Amino acid sequence: MIAGLVVEGFLDKFRPIFGQRMDQSVKIMEKWVRMEHSFGGVSSFVVESSTSSEITASVGIRIRDSDTDVLARGFWKALRQDLGFLHASWTTILLSYPHYTASSSEAYVERLVVTREHRHQGIGRALLEAAESLSRESGKDTIGLHVSDSNLPALKLYEAYGYQEISRQRSLLTRYFLGIRDWLYLQKKLR
Ligand SMILES: CC(C)(COP(=O)(O)OP(=O)(O)OC[C@H]1O[C@@H](n2cnc3c(N)ncnc32)[C@H](O)[C@@H]1OP(=O)(O)O)[C@@H](O)C(=O)NCCC(=O)NCCS
Repeated sequence: MIAGLVVEGFLDKFRPIFGQRMDQSVKIMEKWVRMEHSFGGVSSFVVESSTSSEITASVGIRIRDSDTDVLARGFWKALRQDLGFLHASWTTILLSYPHYTASSSEAYVERLVVTREHRHQGIGRALLEAAESLSRESGKDTIGLHVSDSNLPALKLYEAYGYQEISRQRSLLTRYFLGIRDWLYLQKKLR
């Protein structure tokens, strides 16, 4: 369910990456989320719908050390199986942005997404709060995340919630293929 939600929420990014293999995207994302939970040090929060068995929102928070080699090998294997070598290589290059070096004193927020029909109800904010509480309980000093410069709803939410820009990465590749020129690295101090 998380995988379906993420693909739906980031369609503008996934469509150009997966192209005619969009049918494979949820399956690949599902493998990725499982691997992140098993080897990536990531935990997820989800918001359940009150009217159905669906989920309406989710967020991942990396709070433990990540086994990056196992994760990278596992993801490459999944991509190669489902997309073939050439498309897998291309997907790996595009998904490698933004680059981030994890630090044990920082929690990292990723794939925050709320279904379209449930936006503007404070769910995104609530998930961010949950991520921060977990990060504090886990002894982290800071919480970080990346957002594209064109994602105004997300930027507005993060800024309102005390995140500050630390640095930017510019990529001609993602500008051309995803319409994303700058990746902003935002951070909030927790102590
Ligand atoms: C970004 C996202 C998670 C926000 O979720 P949300 O549940 O709508 O956010 P909230 O209702 O908690 O909104 C909190 C604040 O964010 C801002 N905000 C949210 N959506 C906005 C929009 N479309 N336009 C402008 N500001 C917006 C507002 O400041 C809002 O506060 P307010 O409603 O009290 O004015 C949601 O738009 C989403 O899933 N987007 C697609 C995936 C994505 O881009 N994720 C972020 C990746 S970095």
